[in-house]
Amino acid sequence: MIILGSMLALMTLPVKAQKWEGLADTPQMGWSTWNKFQGNISEDVIKGIADAMVESGLRDAGYTYINIDDCWHGKRDANGFITADPKKFPNGMKTLADYVHSKGLKLGIYSDAGTATCAGEPGSLGHEYQDALQYARWGVDYLKYDWCNTTNVNPQCAYQLISDALRAAGRPIFLSMCEWGSSRPWKWARQIGHSWRTTPDIWCDFDSLRVFEAGYSQFGVMQCIAYNDTLRQYAGKGYWNDPDMLEVGNGMTENEDRAHFTMWCMMASPLILGNDLRNMSEATRNIIMNKEMIAIDQDTLGVQGLHYCDRDGLQFWFKPLAGGDWAFTILNPTRQDITCCLNWQDFNLTDREVSKLSTDFATKVYKVYNLWTHKQEGKTTLKNKVDRKLVVKSRDVVSYRLINGK
Ligand code: GLA
Repeated sequence: MIILGSMLALMTLPVKAQKWEGLADTPQMGWSTWNKFQGNISEDVIKGIADAMVESGLRDAGYTYINIDDCWHGKRDANGFITADPKKFPNGMKTLADYVHSKGLKLGIYSDAGTATCAGEPGSLGHEYQDALQYARWGVDYLKYDWCNTTNVNPQCAYQLISDALRAAGRPIFLSMCEWGSSRPWKWARQIGHSWRTTPDIWCDFDSLRVFEAGYSQFGVMQCIAYNDTLRQYAGKGYWNDPDMLEVGNGMTENEDRAHFTMWCMMASPLILGNDLRNMSEATRNIIMNKEMIAIDQDTLGVQGLHYCDRDGLQFWFKPLAGGDWAFTILNPTRQDITCCLNWQDFNLTDREVSKLSTDFATKVYKVYNLWTHKQEGKTTLKNKVDRKLVVKSRDVVSYRLINGK
């Protein structure tokens, strides 16, 4: 009898839950408060950004999530449920989520696996199921889960716990893991989260570290690329490397912004905008709205681009695409414009690590379509000779879609 009883108890143990599937077939696209506003956020800001997302055409270009980062919190109520700051969000999160949904968009929120968030707001440690339930009740669609104040917390357990909690809360919620790559989540988090940060925080600079006295640094665009570059074998449909949110429109030059955006697309990175969408220049809009470039990021093959080689100061990147096309980008990270003599036969490569696909420039001819001028520029040639000379501007890119077999 006792044995039967314990067998029954075992049989009713819950099966270990897995993350919500089908939320990240391509890298997530949206906007977040943090890069531009930090803690200066409110219901009005979020609503204004949601309106701008629709009016600017960004929603129709694929940007879906409106994410509230740190500093939205009020206190926990008498039962331990988290509330929103009543001054910043006087009508509460549910009303805000309804508004965002009415615009055809989704709402994201932010918490932390530790005792407090990075800005000192209440963390989720010890409240994981309750917080997940609260977000689900509010109608939240996305959770960024940070890693400050986590002394003695095991990362794998903490992220599994919140993933299980989100699953149990019953509403499909995207889980964006943000532990900065410290415990190599790409090795263990495929079943747990939909994306994981691979870098420390980005800052709005093309190529430098911003070192803080407290002992941590922020990364420029090039530093983020260098970290993320080495991890392509770990990303794919449903789980993406995240080199942090975009700084386009926040103060870099137009060519730096273009290079930043292009490289995020080449690396199949999440495209989370970080500028003030209510007030942006035509140049910024043209960059973040480049649908042909977005299509490189969102390509259904789901392969992160390959940093194939460096030559004369330039970086050469290839990304295999569905249907046999390739995206090809020459990145010039230097302070000088560089002339490049392009011989396609220098780039007969096979992506052995991930897709197993080959460019086959010796036997295949591709149409060469310029992703920034939106013009076709001839075709690749089978001959072993310099096919074209091009100038790659300082801190800029030349980026082509190589269209297969036509
Ligand atoms: C950490 C994260 C950032 C941002 C801040 C908020 O630094 O990495 O992306 O969320 O916390 O405090």
